[in-house]
Amino acid sequence: MAGWLGEVPDFFSEELGRYTERTRRSEQIFREARKYVPHGVNSNMRFFEPYPIYIARGKGGKVWDVDGNEYVDLNLAMGAVFSGHSHPAVVEAVQEVIQEGTAFGTDVPEARLVAKELARRWGLDKVRFSNSGAEATMHAIRIARAYTGKEKIVKFEGNYHGAHDYVLVSIKSPPGQMGRKFPRRIPVGPGIPGTTLESVLIARYNDLNSVERLFRKHEEEIAAVIVEPVAMNIGVVPPKPGFLEGLRKLTDEYGALLIFDEVKTGVKLAPGGATEFFGIKPDLAVTAKSIGGGFPVSAIMGREEVMSVVGPHSAVHAGTFNANRLVMAAALATLTKVLTIDAYPRAHRLCDELSRAFQDIVDDYRIPAVVQWIGPNGHIYPGATEPVVDLPTFYQQDDAAWWRYWIAMMNRGVFIEPVVSDDEWTVSVVHTKEDIERAIEAFKEAAKFMRPA
Ligand SMILES: Cc1ncc(COP(=O)(O)O)c(C=O)c1O
Repeated sequence: MAGWLGEVPDFFSEELGRYTERTRRSEQIFREARKYVPHGVNSNMRFFEPYPIYIARGKGGKVWDVDGNEYVDLNLAMGAVFSGHSHPAVVEAVQEVIQEGTAFGTDVPEARLVAKELARRWGLDKVRFSNSGAEATMHAIRIARAYTGKEKIVKFEGNYHGAHDYVLVSIKSPPGQMGRKFPRRIPVGPGIPGTTLESVLIARYNDLNSVERLFRKHEEEIAAVIVEPVAMNIGVVPPKPGFLEGLRKLTDEYGALLIFDEVKTGVKLAPGGATEFFGIKPDLAVTAKSIGGGFPVSAIMGREEVMSVVGPHSAVHAGTFNANRLVMAAALATLTKVLTIDAYPRAHRLCDELSRAFQDIVDDYRIPAVVQWIGPNGHIYPGATEPVVDLPTFYQQDDAAWWRYWIAMMNRGVFIEPVVSDDEWTVSVVHTKEDIERAIEAFKEAAKFMRPA
């Protein structure tokens, strides 16, 4: 039988049959949804083979699909619900405001409190809110261009900053095209104007030389370097010692801004994200996902002087639903009642336990695979024998083996982020030791399907 990435090996056909057996209702919904919705899903990232599953409800660290299967949820909406689903403090805050209207096209009193809390955590001065991570990176780039009066930005291969044209370039560049010595500029799919991408320069993650080379070549032209401080769209790739410090130094030296894209790391790696964790301060930081406790909200944070370019008759930042009452109530409760400083150590410890156990299991089975983790996030790279530090080393991964492991984990009630083999598990602040033990037990069986086909 042909499946994702080619033939499904014989040793996996029974397991795949089990998946389709357990998820019949999802398959039905998919077939119908496909008639009206391209690929049956509302984000390309949600589509996977043989068909996506549809989740009916979630509570705490668990979700249930439309067939009634229960999962320990280590996907958590692509890492966006670090607080756990429907946390009582968030539900209460939202219920209070929902009866009184949710969007007025004006600012609401709660917004300044959420801004104050985020500014405190990041040690930055000013904050503006948007609705998604993509909007936030788009605005941050515009602000950097407006502030510096320059146009070019440096982006790293393998980093993802949302689905807008400025940054849909050189993410998972195909191995044959990515460029060996120097990374190449490769648009992610059709529809992105070449003229937009001309202003984007591509560097290699964890390689300061590749950044310096661009600065030397385009000395007066670079407005900003945008980076995921931990690359979390090629699994989990922490920065090498000195990498972020080096970016800070180079941007200062050449008069460019440093933008941390903390959509994934923000309020997860530490209360003040990677900025706090690594102790390197960017000029602008964006965060999204987990700050809203399950509601769509993002923040653009920056130094006073940089953010001063935002305003009427100046750099545009706008959005009808920005900082509406519903999301501000949710964010305020999430930040002040759930993701408090004491909530972090346990989630990080449980992730550490889970990740170490996964590595031990594959080592015991003599299956080549590398597990990498930091804070509450981890990823396994089947097929890898060396640490993954950038996109070229990411390609050690055997994607088909990853997919088999993912299906096998689903069959055993553990839901890990399914984005075409490159995304991570997240341990939330409400997961229990039992949840983690269940995931480890599941992995003891699922890991066997990782062996090379
Ligand atoms: C690092 C990073 N930046 C930006 C985004 C885009 O966020 P959103 O999907 O909310 O637009 C993502 C999404 O996964 C992300 O991982």
